[in-house]
Amino acid sequence: MSVSRLFFVFLSVLPLWICGTTCTPVKRATCPDIPANPVATPITSLTNPFTFANGQNVTTKDDWACRQAEISQLLQTYELGSKPPKPSTFSASFSRNTLTINAGENGNSISFTSSITFPTSGTAPFPAFIALDGGSLPHPPGVAIITLNTNDIAVQNDASSRGQGKFFQLYGTNASAGAMIAWAWAASRIIDAIEATPSTNIDPTKIGVTGCSRDGKGALVAGAFDDRIVLTIPQESGSGGTDCWRISDSILASGVSTQTASEIVQENVWFSTAFDQFASTSVDPLPFDHHLLIGLVAPRGLLAIDNTGIDWLGAESSFGCLKAASTIWEALGSPDTMGFSQSANHAHCAFPSSQQDDLNAFVNKFLFGQDTNTTNIEDNAGGYTFAMPGTWDPWTAPTLD
Ligand SMILES: *[C@@H]1O[C@H](CO)[C@@H](O)[C@H](O)[C@H]1NC(C)=O
Ligand SMILES: *[C@@H]1O[C@H](CO)[C@@H](O)[C@H](O)[C@H]1NC(C)=O
Ligand SMILES: *[C@@H]1O[C@H](CO)[C@@H](O)[C@H](O)[C@H]1NC(C)=O
Repeated sequence: MSVSRLFFVFLSVLPLWICGTTCTPVKRATCPDIPANPVATPITSLTNPFTFANGQNVTTKDDWACRQAEISQLLQTYELGSKPPKPSTFSASFSRNTLTINAGENGNSISFTSSITFPTSGTAPFPAFIALDGGSLPHPPGVAIITLNTNDIAVQNDASSRGQGKFFQLYGTNASAGAMIAWAWAASRIIDAIEATPSTNIDPTKIGVTGCSRDGKGALVAGAFDDRIVLTIPQESGSGGTDCWRISDSILASGVSTQTASEIVQENVWFSTAFDQFASTSVDPLPFDHHLLIGLVAPRGLLAIDNTGIDWLGAESSFGCLKAASTIWEALGSPDTMGFSQSANHAHCAFPSSQQDDLNAFVNKFLFGQDTNTTNIEDNAGGYTFAMPGTWDPWTAPTLD
């Protein structure tokens, strides 16, 4: 089958395939087709969130739903690999604070567990964070912590871990998924299990996701690819997380030792092998950057937590990428559901008390439903400047009706 026909087939099943039964249906009559070769034209700025890959403008909220489906498709095809829907065989049970999930597909089956740590205060059913490897945030009072064991699902030891872990036992070692989309798949199955198992005492409508460093990259991907997650908190996620590839490349070129795409694909298996061709040459042909991955979360809650003191993390790239992404929340009329909080140097993943108020505000708003003021959470401890609109983001946010 030709590439363009493949895209046509993809697009005709796109809304169901990406969302399963969990997304709000796309109301626009038809979404524009993705051009046959969307990686043909290098783009040195960040890509415009409000222009479809075929050049049409995004002018309404229904358009944005189409654009989100398109961005999701492009990210899966060229960077992350495919996130499968809920498997055809699925069951869950809960006992002794352990959630057990059984999944089967194509004659393969797996079973994996997640432990739930319940708060000592608050009331059931509890809000919860799905925390990759337990996360690195101080546990908020009244919130349960559901641990997602990343290595159990998709091993992330190093570049030789490709295809290892239970996800690949289910979908085959040749599945296109990198480790992060496999973890995102597991996070979605945990939510399926919570929905199906009221005895967990977890409120499935009040679930956040968090993780730090490599797991912060994974937390962002999990939040981007499941609309049921109401709050996404990537912590010190760096390149591959809230940094934009193009900005990180330019920071490295200016002499600051920052992680880039070319390094990251040699370090680990977080991405699909489809990303290698761009990482090893140039990321400019990609019809997205990570401001659009971040934008898949919009208008749901997102708080990005950064550390300006570690060059490798590229906090300046994260700042610019988040500023560019913030235009999406602005266009959707929801600027106060997205924030970013930087603090000066501290040990990697050691949450500083200076960011506690920011964390509390987002937890109170999204996990406890309080009318909390998160309007001004845009700390810039790095003192970075990022013009809007500017060279990186040459667009103005429209008002999407
Ligand atoms: C698309 O939007 C841009 C920027 O707002 C505008 O200049 C252009 O005329 C629009 N194109 C169409 C076809 O409406
Ligand atoms: C994976 O792909 C390789 C190379 O195409 C092939 O030799 C192998 O049989 C495939 N493995 C599975 C489990 O499909
Ligand atoms: C939220 O805080 C911002 C900045 O401090 C302030 O301008 C705004 O009026 C506040 N909004 C509410 C609803 O309190």
